[in-house]
Amino acid sequence: MFGSAFSITDGSGVFISSLTLTIIVSAIVIVGIVLVAVIITLAVLLSSCINRSTTTVEEKTYSGLCASYHINAELNNVQDSVFPAVCEEYMLNYLHGGQYLKDIEVSVDLAQSYLRTLQLQHDQKNAVILDIDETALSSVLHSENIIRRNKGSTNRDWNTWLNDTMITPIVPVLALYQELLAANWTIIFISERAENKFDLTVKSLQKYGYENWTSLILRSSDDSGDTVQSYKLSKRKEIENQGYQIMAVLGDQWSDIAEPAPFTKTFKLPNPFYRVI
Ligand SMILES: *[C@@H]1O[C@H](CO)[C@@H](O)[C@H](O)[C@H]1NC(C)=O
Ligand SMILES: *[C@@H]1O[C@H](CO)[C@@H](O)[C@H](O)[C@H]1NC(C)=O
Ligand SMILES: *[C@@H]1O[C@H](CO)[C@@H](O)[C@H](O)[C@H]1NC(C)=O
Repeated sequence: MFGSAFSITDGSGVFISSLTLTIIVSAIVIVGIVLVAVIITLAVLLSSCINRSTTTVEEKTYSGLCASYHINAELNNVQDSVFPAVCEEYMLNYLHGGQYLKDIEVSVDLAQSYLRTLQLQHDQKNAVILDIDETALSSVLHSENIIRRNKGSTNRDWNTWLNDTMITPIVPVLALYQELLAANWTIIFISERAENKFDLTVKSLQKYGYENWTSLILRSSDDSGDTVQSYKLSKRKEIENQGYQIMAVLGDQWSDIAEPAPFTKTFKLPNPFYRVI
């Protein structure tokens, strides 16, 4: 007889030593533990997978909704309605994440390509009209403040945002400006900023390298009864009456570019943050 006195026998009469039994029981316990661990792991993975796919669906829904609000803001359809609060992150990401700058670059590239095709004639007076805010210069903190309005941030007066500590240049427009200047284009700024902001505006423009423009037109209190659109149109007409052909107008607002002359091409820069009518 083999084995110890502690050998047992199963129903079939096979003898199993206590060592073998220990090994088998241990193996069963280990397999059991491994199985439980695998099941728990799978359950955790599955539930995180479900959570993730739920989030993805929600994110997609929101980003689809916010992309629609975004384009409708550009199209001027949002009017004075408030952007859905759920789109705040989307809009901040648009402003700071690179796409806003990309959209500006594409508009400016299109203007640049067009203007490069034109041969300036020395006997002709050709001009390009530029808007200032959100075109030549950016008041990015103001745009951010508008996006965050649902969080009850302070709604400061527009004039406080004109402080040049809060203004930065829109680099693609500055590059185009300098190219046009070097090619002897007449460059005229028309802005809805008030005339009493003239010195501040000159300072902000020059600080960042906008220099030697032909004319800087700001709004006098005389035409403050007009809409911005009719004010800008009447200033363009005055320029044309001085013998200029306005070849291009660049601005972030529809009111900057509305009712162009037949030979004037317009380039709309993005601004889904606010509208000026
Ligand atoms: C601009 O802001 C700075 C810093 O807050 C302030 O010292 C300065 O007086 C402001 N300038 C104007 C013109 O409001
Ligand atoms: C621009 O005008 C200046 C002065 O009239 C002239 O010397 C220069 O050659 C012109 N530049 C171009 C690119 O036409
Ligand atoms: C503006 O004109 C001044 C004087 O002619 C010149 O020194 C300066 O370089 C010009 N600036 C630019 C950006 O062309």
